Amino acid sequence: MKTTRVLTGITTSGTPHLGNYVGAIRPAIAACRAAGVESFYFLADYHALIKVDDPARIQRSTLEIAATWIACGLDPERVTFYRQSDIPEIPELTWFLTCVCGKGLLNRAHAYKAAVDKNTEAQQDPDTDVTAGLFMYPVLMAADILMFNAHQVPVGRDQIQHIEMARDLAAGFNHRYGDHFVLPEAQIEDHVATLPGLDGRKMSKSYDNTIPLFAPPEQLQKIIAGIKTDSRAPGELKDTEGSALFQIYQAFASPAECDAMRQAFAQGISWADAKHRLFELINQEISPLRASYQELMAHPEQLEALLQAGAAKARAIATPAMSRLRHAVGLRDLRTQAYRSPTKTTKAALPSFKQYREADGKFYFKLVDAAGKLLLQSPGYVSPQEAGKVVKKLQQQPQAFTGLELPAALGASLDEVRQVLQQLHDAADQ
Ligand code: TRP
Repeated sequence: MKTTRVLTGITTSGTPHLGNYVGAIRPAIAACRAAGVESFYFLADYHALIKVDDPARIQRSTLEIAATWIACGLDPERVTFYRQSDIPEIPELTWFLTCVCGKGLLNRAHAYKAAVDKNTEAQQDPDTDVTAGLFMYPVLMAADILMFNAHQVPVGRDQIQHIEMARDLAAGFNHRYGDHFVLPEAQIEDHVATLPGLDGRKMSKSYDNTIPLFAPPEQLQKIIAGIKTDSRAPGELKDTEGSALFQIYQAFASPAECDAMRQAFAQGISWADAKHRLFELINQEISPLRASYQELMAHPEQLEALLQAGAAKARAIATPAMSRLRHAVGLRDLRTQAYRSPTKTTKAALPSFKQYREADGKFYFKLVDAAGKLLLQSPGYVSPQEAGKVVKKLQQQPQAFTGLELPAALGASLDEVRQVLQQLHDAADQ
């Protein structure tokens, strides 16, 4: 089975709440256990700088979010879990993408437009308090995704436009420089309901209506007691429809538990009792995770080590990818200039000889063109020196090649091979 690369980032600007857990963390951890997926999860701390200028908060949030994901069962052996700012290739790729990004594309980004609209409405300069960081947000995000050639990006609906922009930038880059990037797709989790917050609106930091994921039990109980309900008295029938309490309950309950709660509503359970049941249910799921979370929070060195290991894994992909991209755009070792045929402007790579040993113990070489097509395949030689001698002769005296000295497969016409050999020879001379 072909593996699908799934990648998502978590901005390190706050403390994880139940809405994050139900809407993102829990489904992501379940998804990365599926076969045929290769998952990348990262802490988007460069993105956090766009919103937060309090260094202590950035650090604290990074620690909390890393601890949360590990405590909730993310297996760093199985997935690549890293911190964005540990991957210097990402800002470098951001610049490459910046240079193929139309400014107008960014003018149309929802978040930027919303800021401009707000300023305009307030009769201020359109760009008041808008940083270039906010403006560039989609390009940084595209670099996150394209760096690892992710196929699927699980995000909330509010992020769909960003994925579309990443596709646009990938296509723009590919068009100019060749096929380097996969065009990513947004993966919208429609079956996971968004969790309502204490006031019944979507649970969100910006509404200040969240339930922190790892609040200590007493505090959790108190916060749950604050969920908005109507004023029906104990014994009065209660509606599950539109009840934030019931919706939160549903996100943690089995179907049987849901039915039982529905019945309790119909039979007039008091709000106090319903809240108590909700607390018990949440606490039962969260309390083992809370214990691991507290353990991890007490050992930041463990998380740091884990993130360093994740960065090494991520960079094993990003570093070679970035050197290909640097080459593609023309940021090159000047000595490689000599290897470029003066007539061909775009084909930077040259044909090459590859020497290798087969399972039969013999030594072989082949000549492949820049695209990897086989031009010439040698017979087996008893030693690498023997094979090397033939290669050298072909390199030094391309015109002496008649095809007879190599009875093995010719992947191209004799003429073509001779031409390629001559081209290599000329290039080496320069
Ligand atoms: N913008 C995302 C959010 O706010 C976070 C993010 C940054 C991200 N880079 C990403 C998500 C790359 C997916 C892929 O939720």
